[in-house]
This record gives sequence, C-alpha cells and structure tokens, in this order.
Amino acid sequence: MAVSRCRTFTLLGLEALTVTVEVDIAPADKPTLVIVGLPDSAVKESKDRVLTALKNVGYPLGSQHCTVNLAPGHLRKEGACYDLPIALGIVLAMEKINSGIQLDNYFIAGELSLSGELRPIAGALSLAMLAQKHKAQGLLIPLENAPEASVTTKLNIYPFTNLKEAIAFLINPKNYQPYLLKNSSQQHQNHIPPVDLQTVRGQYAAKRALEITAAGGHNLIFSGPPGSGKSLLAKALISLLPPLTLQEALESTKIHSIARMLPTDTNLLYHRPFRAPHHTISYAGLVGGGNIPRPGEISLAHNGILFLDELPEFSRSVLEVLRQPLEDRLVTISRARQQVTYPCSILCIAAMNPCPCGYTGHPTKACKDTDIQKQRYLQKISGPLWDRFDLFLTVPPVSYQEMHQAPTGETSATVRQRVIQARERQYARYGEGKTNAMLTRSQLDSHCKLDTESHAILKQAMEEMHLSARAADRILRVGLTIADLANSPLCPEHLMEALSYRKATT
Ligand SMILES: Nc1ncnc2c1ncn2[C@@H]1O[C@H](COP(=O)(O)OP(=O)(O)O)[C@@H](O)[C@H]1O
Ligand SMILES: [Mg+2]
Repeated sequence: MAVSRCRTFTLLGLEALTVTVEVDIAPADKPTLVIVGLPDSAVKESKDRVLTALKNVGYPLGSQHCTVNLAPGHLRKEGACYDLPIALGIVLAMEKINSGIQLDNYFIAGELSLSGELRPIAGALSLAMLAQKHKAQGLLIPLENAPEASVTTKLNIYPFTNLKEAIAFLINPKNYQPYLLKNSSQQHQNHIPPVDLQTVRGQYAAKRALEITAAGGHNLIFSGPPGSGKSLLAKALISLLPPLTLQEALESTKIHSIARMLPTDTNLLYHRPFRAPHHTISYAGLVGGGNIPRPGEISLAHNGILFLDELPEFSRSVLEVLRQPLEDRLVTISRARQQVTYPCSILCIAAMNPCPCGYTGHPTKACKDTDIQKQRYLQKISGPLWDRFDLFLTVPPVSYQEMHQAPTGETSATVRQRVIQARERQYARYGEGKTNAMLTRSQLDSHCKLDTESHAILKQAMEEMHLSARAADRILRVGLTIADLANSPLCPEHLMEALSYRKATT
C-alpha cells in the first residue's frame, strides 16, 4: 500500500467536523513531505515535527516523497492536532508494518514532540462526540485527553503517551484495552466550593437581589464602598443556581476544552463556571478571538456567572462589545475565511464603587472626588450597557457588630430551593431554560397582565422618576420574577419591590 487513509477533525465553533487524512508515498531522491488542504501555519509546522518524531522512533521517511491531503479542502485546519494522524498514516503508507486494524475506521488526533511524545489537544470532547456519531471503532488520542473524551460512553478510547505506543497499537491492537475512567471523584478535585449565603453577614437587601437574579436570570450591578462585601456576595451567587443539566455540562466542557482551560483529569464540568476577569482584559480575552479562534471569558462563563469587578475600570471599548453577546447569548467571531459562534448564556454580575475614591454616600468617610471626576467615572458605562442590567443595588458597609455576629439568615440551599421552583414556573410558561430576563417586549405583553393598581404604579413611576420605556420593561421582568418566587401572579407589591432595584437615573 502506498496510500493510507484515516480520520481526524477540525472545529467550527463547538462542533467537530470530520477531516480525512490521506497519505501517498512515492520514491524520490530525498525525503520530502507536502501537506495540502487549507492548512494554517501551525499545521504546516507539523511537517518538521512529524518527520523528526518518526525518525526518532525508528521509522525514518527515507528517500521518498510523501503527500498528505487534508480533506475536504474548503475547511480550514488549525493547530497541531494533525501530527498523530499524519504520522500514523505515513507509517502505514510506507508499508513498514503489518497493521492489525482498518485505520480509516478510527478517529485520531494528537500533537507530537520531536522525540515522539504526545501532547494533549484542544477540543477532545467535541472530537469524541463526532467519532461516536460516526460509530467509529475507536479513538486514538493523547493520554491527557482521555478522561474528557470518556464522557462518550459508547466509544472505545485508546490513549497513548507517545508515537511508539500508538504504532504498537496498530501492529497488535489485541494487546490494548479501551480506556476506563478510574476514579470519577477526580472530577471534583479542582472545584473551589462556593461561598454560602450565610457566610455573608447582614446585607439582607443584597442577598434578596441575588435570589431574584438567580431565579429570573437577571444581570445585576452592586455599587458600594470598598470592603462592603460586593465580591463576596458575587461569589455566593453561584450557590443559588440550580445544578447543571447534562446538556449544559457537556456544552461547558466543550468550551473549556477548546480554550485549553479544562483541568487535567476532569472528564466533565459538574459545576457552573464562575469567571472573574481582571479589568485590564483585552477585547479578544473577553469575547473571544485570536489567530486560532478561542472562546473568551464570556463563553467560558457559559451556563454560569461572569463577574465584572470594578466595572468602570474596564476599557470602554471592551465594555461596549459585551452588549450584543449579553443580549443574544451568542458571540460571533468574524475572521478572514470563516465566522465562528460560541454560546454565552450567562448571568452577568458587576461591582463598582459609587465614585473613584469609593466613599460617596459612606456613613462615616468623606468622598474626596469632584463632581466632574464622579461624572467621568460613571460615564465609562454607556446608557445601552446600563440597559443590559435589570437590577441595581447600593451595598452599604457592614457595621462592626454585624461582622462579628453569628451567621444569620437563610443558607444557600434553602434559597436555591425557591430559585429552582421559581425557574420551573418560568420554564412551564416559556419553555425549558427560558427565564423572565429573556422576555422580549411582545412576550412581556402576552405574559405580563397588570391590574389597574399596577398600571397606576408603573405610570406614576415612569412620569415622576422619568423612566424610559426600556427601564419600565426591566421593572416588569424583575416584577415577574419576584412574583414567581412568591408563587403568585404579578401584584402591585412585586412591582414596588422591582422599582426599588432601579438605578436612580434610568
Ligand atoms: N457582609 C460581610 N460578611 C462577611 N464578610 C465580609 C462582609 N463584607 C466584607 N467582608 C469581608 O471583607 C473582605 C472584603 O470584602 P469584599 O467582598 O472583597 O468587598 P468589596 O468587593 O466590596 O470591596 C472580604 O475578605 C470579606 O470576607
Ligand atoms: Mg471587591
């Protein structure tokens, strides 16, 4: 055989697509290797790695010309995951071994070092799901990727630490058992336990706002002086959310895998992500992008929380790009040849000081900022961005007495029960996974029936507080969530509470 064929993958967003690796070998004056089929520069570099690794494990190319075709030609191939399929394809095409398997029944991916060691790839779960869909006989991947790929229970996974082992598998596959995840408790070792609501002393209004946020999927801003517990409260929010569904866990795992952020030994993310990027983060770091497109923080937070601490300190241009993804729950990254889309269904929670020094409204400390400084600080957040946040709450400093009292108030588990029930009411009305925060204007019309008194309250608020129509819609969405938490139709008292979470100027 001077031609061999096997299968590997390329990523389009979260989805893996099949790429066939064809290798043809013909006699020549010296060893040469050509890769065709829209490879990017990282794939082109594969040439040198593969030839050197093959030589170092005892399979030099010799005086032969080798052509590698990555098909279909129109799909862009990125990264270093083609090293292993190309190397195994060459070994077969050279006819140096008697293969015990039909190579094109397998999916293969892995990066090689010059000495032939295998390095993990990004996107192994997406690849494993593709291989399972095609009923592949097996998946040959680097050992580090095996826990993650083993989420697909109907697929035989053969992990290797180096090229030599993979070649030995081709020669005598019967010597190998498919991979079994040894210790499923491994998946929890990287998890930081969330802050329980009871850890936060006092701050009952803020805790209530967290409950509403969790129940209705609303975005929330906390404003308050340094040390008042804003960051602590944000961390407690994760403990109020319902557990991930399997579907959600699979999607979140795929994203982390593609971003190379999945901890080793983790097969599935069982906990909602909590991402807190620093305010110096770049555009690409936040929404995604880069030479080889990678999901950004907003997608790493998919199905979980994005915490933007010190909101006005973020660059204004970075904040502006958040608006569309927050609304669409998807982020699209445009590139020269293709667009990729990553999901980003998140709860966004932001914290800010009321002014640059942080002490506006503080009971004992005086604010040192001028009005112009304050104005400039708040103007970093545009009107349309404020519109993406349904709740705004001022968090006062906690007193010494409060800080040193025994934990009081409800535990996260108690509140989470109410959140889950409130969410179930919303899913029953709008469909699985849809919450009040996602309602459009016309959906609000059909789901939000106001009685005369509620109409009067909203009318008065719009007139006296100069609320925009958008701000009024936000109040209705929050009001619906408060009603769902009370297991009741929307009443005037729910609207009154919702009104208390508006920012003074919108
Ligand atoms: N209400 C509170 N209950 C318990 N600890 C608090 C509270 N507020 C602040 N702290 C403690 O004070 C420190 C600073 O709180 P932090 O959440 O970082 O404040 P902020 O983000 O508002 O500046 C944290 O270590 C936190 O443990
Ligand atoms: Mg903080």
